[in-house]
Order: sequence, then structure tokens, then C-alpha cells
Amino acid sequence: MRYYFRRWLLLIAAQILVMCTLYLILQDSQVRTLLSMFLGWLDGQGLYMCKIRKLPMVYEHGHEHYYVVWETSCPTNGASLEWWTDDVPGDGSSASHHFVKAQYKMIDKSHHRYSVVIGPVGLATKVHYRSTSHSKSTAQYSITRRNGAELTRVLVIADNQNGPAEFRKVLSSIRKHYGGNNFPDAILHVGDGLQDSRKLSDWQNQLFSPLEDGGGYQHRSPTVFVPGNHDHDKARTPNNGNLYTDMYHGILTTDGLGEPVVMNGTYHRFFHTASLGSARVIVLDSECPSAEQSEFLERELQSEAFQSARFRIVAVHIPPYIEFWNPYTWNERGEKHWREHIRLEYDVLFRRHNVDLVISGHQHNYQRGTVRRNLQSVGSSDPITYAIVGGAGGELDLERVENWNMYNVTYLDHHFVSLEVDDRQLRWLAKNKAGTIIDQFDIVR
Ligand SMILES: [Fe+2]
Repeated sequence: MRYYFRRWLLLIAAQILVMCTLYLILQDSQVRTLLSMFLGWLDGQGLYMCKIRKLPMVYEHGHEHYYVVWETSCPTNGASLEWWTDDVPGDGSSASHHFVKAQYKMIDKSHHRYSVVIGPVGLATKVHYRSTSHSKSTAQYSITRRNGAELTRVLVIADNQNGPAEFRKVLSSIRKHYGGNNFPDAILHVGDGLQDSRKLSDWQNQLFSPLEDGGGYQHRSPTVFVPGNHDHDKARTPNNGNLYTDMYHGILTTDGLGEPVVMNGTYHRFFHTASLGSARVIVLDSECPSAEQSEFLERELQSEAFQSARFRIVAVHIPPYIEFWNPYTWNERGEKHWREHIRLEYDVLFRRHNVDLVISGHQHNYQRGTVRRNLQSVGSSDPITYAIVGGAGGELDLERVENWNMYNVTYLDHHFVSLEVDDRQLRWLAKNKAGTIIDQFDIVR
């Protein structure tokens, strides 16, 4: 009897050991990436019943609106989204539930996309929603809305393209930073969320799956998406081949929010403005310079909303001042002249119109420089800060090609930034994937 008992105990111990080993293996970001790719491949073979392939991702969408997109692996009739807000004192209608039929777009036979615009949400401090497809509803997700005086926490990332394993490590560090079930109030993604916007597997494996496994912030923290050169097809083809970030066309007016966001042959227009607490952010599309965008930039910079904001930020994927790149393509392939208009045309305006902070990606490492705004005014202490945060996972840029003598901090590894603004203070905290602080500064007003 004792012999059998010992064998039984050994068997249990062996099983626990195997389970623990499997658990540890599955925690590895490389293994999780491979597993996710394998499951995606199985999915593509039609081996599963219909399922939600992408749970809802919410984007900020202009004043008092949000744009939600999700996807199933087979078509469904009657997909919809229910949204409601918490009661707002003095606003008796806010608690009512809204049921919105989703716009449907078939991407291919196993990718069926749905989108809904939520809003206007008025002064609500909480917006709740859940989507329904195939008679099944998702969990209820809640968006927290801060007023300008409240502390607003923004996660800033860029350039996770083609690096899902590293991106998962960065996301793991981000989860530790916010802790438990806490979420940032918004995500500022400064572009290049994937390598090839025409490849469905890149969208899934490089952006949506890591975000899902990394805590699912995209369901609750509205993303302000700044387009990078890898994120959208710039050819003027029907629908531009833009699969999951086509929401910003026409964002400047709310009149057309219920209409299809991109008509055949029209061009995406990503540039727009967003408020993050007491900060006002101008989002530019570095890939699509146009007279329309230049006029928009001049107008927004001089606007009352921007000039009266406590903190004035511009987010543009390609930085005005690049120092690290591939030396061959930089010098021999002419990439040093790529989107030079950002430095030669836009940056002159940033300095002239009191921009406090320019946030970019594109260069795959971290740099931050705070310099005098007006180079002619020697005595001026009025500063402007340039930050490059292109380290959410993509292969690092390690070779220096220029020296602008302006960056205070250079860090050549993966990282993310926590940006916090309240009524009087902007706090910038950059951390690497181990959670160590690599840079920080405050702007106090
Ligand atoms: Fe880029």
C-alpha cells in the first residue's frame, strides 16, 4: 500500500512539474508569438467554427466620439454595438442605452470586419459598450473620460512593427507599470504598428494578438493613432487597402460620422486634433504632405483650443531630427531627404506657435532633447522638447548617421513612455522593457 501511495505521489509531482514547465514555456514571448502565429494559420485553414478574431479596439474619434472596430472569422448578420454612459448630473438622457448597427466590411472570406461610431457622449465620465455578433456579446468594456483638471495617464508607444516577441516584453513591462487591472486613459501610438499593411497576418501577429495577450488595453483605452509609413497603403486605390485604421478620414467634422469613412478612390486623411486631459495634441500624417495638411497645421496651431491648452503637443511619425538609421540607405539611397518637409516646413511652425513637445517614432530607439525654441534669441529660455519613442519592438537602429547636437538622452533599446498630465504638470517617464527608468522630465505651469 505504501509503495502505491509513493508512486501516486510521484505521479502527482511529475504532473505538477510538467504543468509548471509548460506554464513557464508559454510565458516566453517568443513561444507565445509562435503559438499565436500557428493558431492564426490553423484559423486560416477554416478549422474553427466562427469566432471573434479581433475583440473590439477603440480609437478616439474627434470631439465626444469613439470609433470601435472588431472582426469575426465568418460573416454574421445583425452585428451591433450597445453603448451607454454613466449618469451625468443634470443630463437625464445620458443613462439610456444606444443600439447601433455595425458597418460591415468583408476583407476576405475569413476576415469580416465591423465598425461603429460611439457618440456624442457629452460630458459623461464613463462610456460603456459591448459588441454583439453571432448572437454572442463580448464582455462590457468601459472608457474613462477625464476632464482637463484631472490626472490623465497616456501610454506612448511606436514602432512595434515586425517585432512581436519584443513588443510582448514591452507590453509586459507596461502592465507592471500600470499594475493589476489598471489601464491608461488613452494610448498614443506614434505609428508603424506593423510591417506590411496589406498582409492580414501582420495586423494579427504584430499588433492585435500581442495587444490582446498584453492586457487588452485596446478595448478600454482609446487609441490616438498617428500613421506611420508602414501602416497604410498610400496608393490611391479603392479603399486604399486600409484595413483597420481607416477611421480618420473626415474626422474633422462630426456631420458625416455615421457615413462610410472612406469612399472608393478617396484618400485617407489622418491629420486631426485630440484632447488628452489638459493637453491638446495635433496629429500629422508624415507620409502625406499636402496643401490641405499644411493649411490644417497652420490653422490648428493658431486656434484658441491649441493656444489656450495648458500643454501643446504635436505627434508626427517621422521626427524632424533623425540621428540613427541604416548608413547605406541614409546616404546612398537618399533616405536622408525622406520627408524633409517635417523639419524644413513644419518644425518652423512648431517653434513659432509655442509647441511644447513634439513626439515621433520611426527611428527605432529613444532620444529626447530639450532646446531653445528660438535659436536667434540667445537669452531665451523658452524651451521646446523633441522625443523619439520608436522602440516598442521593431529591430533597433544602432548606427549614427547624423549629429544635430540637440538630444540630451539617447537610449538604444526597447522602451515605452508614460505621459501624465494634470491641470498644472506634464510628467514624462520613459522606461525600458525591464521597467527601469531611462529618462524623465516635467513641464510645470
Ligand atoms: Fe517608420
